[in-house]
Amino acid sequence: MSGKGQERSTERLDVSMPAIKTAAATLAAGGLVAFPTETVYGLGGDACNAEAVAAIFAAKGRPAFNPLISHVDSTEHAFALGMATPPARALAARFWPGPLTLALTRRADCPIARLTSAGLDKIALRVPASEAAQRLLTAFGGPVAAPSANPSGRISPTRADHVMAGLDGRIDVVLDGGRCDSGVESTVVDCSDDSAVILRPGGVTRQQVADCLAAAGLELAVATSSSDITQPASPGMLASHYAPRAALEMNVTRAEPSMKMIGFGDIEGAGANNLNLSPSGDLVEAAANLFDMLHRADATGSAVIGVAPIPAQGLGEAINDRLRRAAAPRKTR
Ligand code: TXA
Ligand code: MG
Repeated sequence: MSGKGQERSTERLDVSMPAIKTAAATLAAGGLVAFPTETVYGLGGDACNAEAVAAIFAAKGRPAFNPLISHVDSTEHAFALGMATPPARALAARFWPGPLTLALTRRADCPIARLTSAGLDKIALRVPASEAAQRLLTAFGGPVAAPSANPSGRISPTRADHVMAGLDGRIDVVLDGGRCDSGVESTVVDCSDDSAVILRPGGVTRQQVADCLAAAGLELAVATSSSDITQPASPGMLASHYAPRAALEMNVTRAEPSMKMIGFGDIEGAGANNLNLSPSGDLVEAAANLFDMLHRADATGSAVIGVAPIPAQGLGEAINDRLRRAAAPRKTR
């Protein structure tokens, strides 16, 4: 049992208080819990624990690290993590708890792992309304990162049976709260500055968002294609947010003296503060460390960051995808 992306036995529980407590303890221990919200079932993990977040990507088989929504039990809690702007306050007052997600600038002391937001400085926050979700979030006490609880590329789950069909053996717990009322995901609105922009349509309509903002004397801005990060396939966009200042070289097996090396497995990182994504060669651990170590390597001021070869299977596909984007020639810096 060396790896962290292991087979798990999935426990199916009801949403009684003892079951909720078991699920909250599972999250606190770094485990994965699928839970019902009023939109779809979420595949939850501790948003502040990068290894738990990496395990979410592994369980879904996501080929890339899309940024995940962090779920909390109250607006106060959300605004303690991300900066409240005027449109964020107006929309939160009207639609939280409910099928609305706000992308906000992370506060300096925000404990959410960088992997949760795929290295972006914005974090996505949601206060769900369903009672089971509320109870779980209150019992756990911190932000819970959760994409929809389906294998990547498959249909979103609105029943515990759908979750089991896709993820049995890959997660620790599924809380069975029956059918989700809505079945369409939350509306994602970027409120990181004074102009609100819809990044993904969802349970709250464009008209409802616009009306709410208008009532507060604010406007809904029209999305430009470059502000739409809900299409992770548009590569330049995410890369420009995430690429380090330094040039990046992949598949480095021997570091040049001028290079800040990030190792993997037997290939060591160079220097005193050795950076190794996973000395044991575990891809879940490597994914959890990826964004943090890129930040740390970049902070050394080295002109070049070298990264050891990462195997292509499993989470290695997402890790290599991100490294490739970071290593790609940049048009504008
Ligand atoms: O209803 C929902 O939103 C469900 C339930 C479980 O809450 N969750 C869900 O998560 O649909 P997911 O991972 O499938 O979708 C997350 C959406 C994506 O469109 C993503 O691009 C956007 O939120 N998003 C996440 N973090 C972001 C960020 N930091 N900035 C901008 N957009 C972000
Ligand atoms: Mg989804």
